[in-house]
Amino acid sequence: MATSSEMRLVGLHVHIGSQVFVLDAFAEAAHVVVEFVAAMAAATGVLARELDLGGGLGVRYAPEDDVPDIGQYAQVLRGALSDAWHRASLEGEPVLSVEPGRSIAAPAGLTLYTVGTIKNIEGIRTYVAVDGGMSDNIRPAAYGSLYETFLPTRAESERPLTATVVGKHCEQGDLVVSDARLPADVAVGDILATPVTGAYGYAMASNYNKMPRPAIVFVRDGEARVVTRRETTEDLIGLDDPA
Ligand SMILES: Cc1ncc(COP(=O)(O)O)c(C=O)c1O
Repeated sequence: MATSSEMRLVGLHVHIGSQVFVLDAFAEAAHVVVEFVAAMAAATGVLARELDLGGGLGVRYAPEDDVPDIGQYAQVLRGALSDAWHRASLEGEPVLSVEPGRSIAAPAGLTLYTVGTIKNIEGIRTYVAVDGGMSDNIRPAAYGSLYETFLPTRAESERPLTATVVGKHCEQGDLVVSDARLPADVAVGDILATPVTGAYGYAMASNYNKMPRPAIVFVRDGEARVVTRRETTEDLIGLDDPA
């Protein structure tokens, strides 16, 4: 590429992973990339000044998630990149960009379910079944991800009840929240919310067990707009050969 008349190398990109809480991991990535920039510059004379350090900044799904704030994230990345750049005696300043998808999209969304059944097994556990689950959010089933729960009609209520919120897909692993905290008066027909589902929710949704995917609704200043409509049975069978 150093000798190509068609392409000009302006930068490098790295993505170290997702839901990362340890800022030192990003700092380490910046150092590794800059070492590579320096080696490449020495070998080819091309200085790749634009460095994209990918995504990965974690978000808080559960209270125990110890998430760095975006200001600390920016400070650590800029500091690490600048240190590494000057330590390698590279000329000028690097240009930093990032792609932190989850940290932008996840907190912007929440999922609303309707409670269909509540089953209390005395002395063992209460199960709250909702009209969704692993087809709209595969993360708990796929890798045990934690979520919070609340009832939007009584968002400020105490949540003394610990219950397992389960989906409707006829699967043992169809969990929405394994140890959900809910108001004691949660009832069939209540709307139940799981916050922070704006990333890797709908994008990883499926028609598992032929479930239609839900709608996506954008809300701003009290105005709601359906941006992706709910799937219908016709959508699901529309690809089948009618003959
Ligand atoms: C190249 C690249 N950039 C950015 C992202 C977004 O990562 P995140 O949503 O964790 O910020 C991903 C996700 O896998 C990715 O592969």
